Amino acid sequence: MSRVFRLESVPRYGRTPVASQADPVPARPGPDRQAGIIAGFLAPHPPHLIYAENPPQNEPRSTGGWEVLRWAYETARARIRQLAPDVLIVHAPHWITMVGHHVNCVPNPRGISVEPIFPHLFRYRYDFRTDVQLAEALVEQYEAAGLVSRAMRDPDVRVDYATIGALHMANPAWDIPVVSISANNNPYFYSEADLEQMEVLGRATAEAVQRTGRRAILLASNSLSHLHFDRESDLPEDMSREYPFSNEQYHADMVLLDTIRRRPGAALRTAIADHIAATEAETKAGSLSWMLAAMGWPDTPGDVLGYGTIIGTGNAVVQWTRGDRGERRG
Ligand SMILES: [Fe+2]
Repeated sequence: MSRVFRLESVPRYGRTPVASQADPVPARPGPDRQAGIIAGFLAPHPPHLIYAENPPQNEPRSTGGWEVLRWAYETARARIRQLAPDVLIVHAPHWITMVGHHVNCVPNPRGISVEPIFPHLFRYRYDFRTDVQLAEALVEQYEAAGLVSRAMRDPDVRVDYATIGALHMANPAWDIPVVSISANNNPYFYSEADLEQMEVLGRATAEAVQRTGRRAILLASNSLSHLHFDRESDLPEDMSREYPFSNEQYHADMVLLDTIRRRPGAALRTAIADHIAATEAETKAGSLSWMLAAMGWPDTPGDVLGYGTIIGTGNAVVQWTRGDRGERRG
């Protein structure tokens, strides 16, 4: 584990005792509602998906586009509603923290999230509830696991589009409380992916979820291959201009997805690293590894709900579900 993650922890945003009035989720464990992580989704966030859907929160209007990926998300939404989680926990690569892992503890984040490269596609008014009790439990658990962690309590910090993108696409009604976790940027300083931290972060996430009695669904807000075009057509949703950035990128995505579909989660420990080396993948930010580690690298294959390119990047919606033996194995 890199020494940078073992810096002495000094609260930056301040710490207040738990028991926030904004905690909207009483723990509801029971024989039919066993606490723990009940499912996880690979949930890519390109702003084009929300732009194409024309929800009332987003200012720009479109004529559609990227339908197959959006249909995959429709399946994910139905499954999430059926599973009825207490909370959605999202790890997103565009809330970047240079030191440590931050957790949003703002009870009611509100504001406008703007995609800096595509502001003409994504200006989204968000207003959601944080499960503050769980968010604070995550900070405590991360610190106990030897990670540098912070409770982010500044209501003026704008929520990034990768957090909003995954959460909206998974649950556009926003009626399930949320916890969002930052992406420590450290892996980008190494020539090869160093995702050891995400194993620790994932295990600690599972322990905090269990300790607080929540039934949680995790969202890994990552695209796959991440090279993209630097020119946009006059009509952004012109699907005749949408295709993989290169055959090599597409092929590497298919190799990873084939492993996901056919093999148990343990095979992904090396498959994800191989894919990152081959594609400049966004999974280098660690969201997918965090989620699978939190689920104990499930011994069942993933359910690939759909795949599609967005400005040349590869994106897949994939579900893993808790097995019969509990939320963590191995
Ligand atoms: Fe991204």
